[in-house]
Amino acid sequence: MKKVLVINGPNLNLLGTREPAQYGHETLADVERMCLAAGARLEVEVECRQSNHEGALIDWLHEAGREVAAGRMLGVVMNPGAYTHTSVALHDAIKGASVPVIELHISNVHAREEFRHHSFVSPAARGIIVGLGVKGYPLAIEALVRTSESHTGEAS
Ligand code: DQA
Repeated sequence: MKKVLVINGPNLNLLGTREPAQYGHETLADVERMCLAAGARLEVEVECRQSNHEGALIDWLHEAGREVAAGRMLGVVMNPGAYTHTSVALHDAIKGASVPVIELHISNVHAREEFRHHSFVSPAARGIIVGLGVKGYPLAIEALVRTSESHTGEAS
């Protein structure tokens, strides 16, 4: 069974108590349970990780690139948090590791402050899911699975 890695970036460990009007009441553990359930339904193995440290996120993208190249992983669903808007290094890591990434944001960043409108990650991502709340996570996993099928020429 192929794997999908779900990576949550800075401050997403605070889900549930952090600005619930923006991010809802579900905790990171709730989100990870939703991701594992989506994996079971879609017949992929899902692993979830979270870090507040940019370098850890970069190391995980490199590792994921190696797993994709070895045929063991489809790619990554990533909520890069605020690093979305600041990190050329995440952009370079995704491109450098040739790892398919679905970028995800819980809130609709385009309806918020202007500094959230630009993403360094988006130009390197396969696709983007924005503003659907935590329900976006299972959708992003499904998007990665379905688009990987079409990338390998299998029927969708
Ligand atoms: C976020 C949006 C970012 O602007 C913010 O810095 C986050 C969370 C989201 O999921 O909506 O940490 O990525």
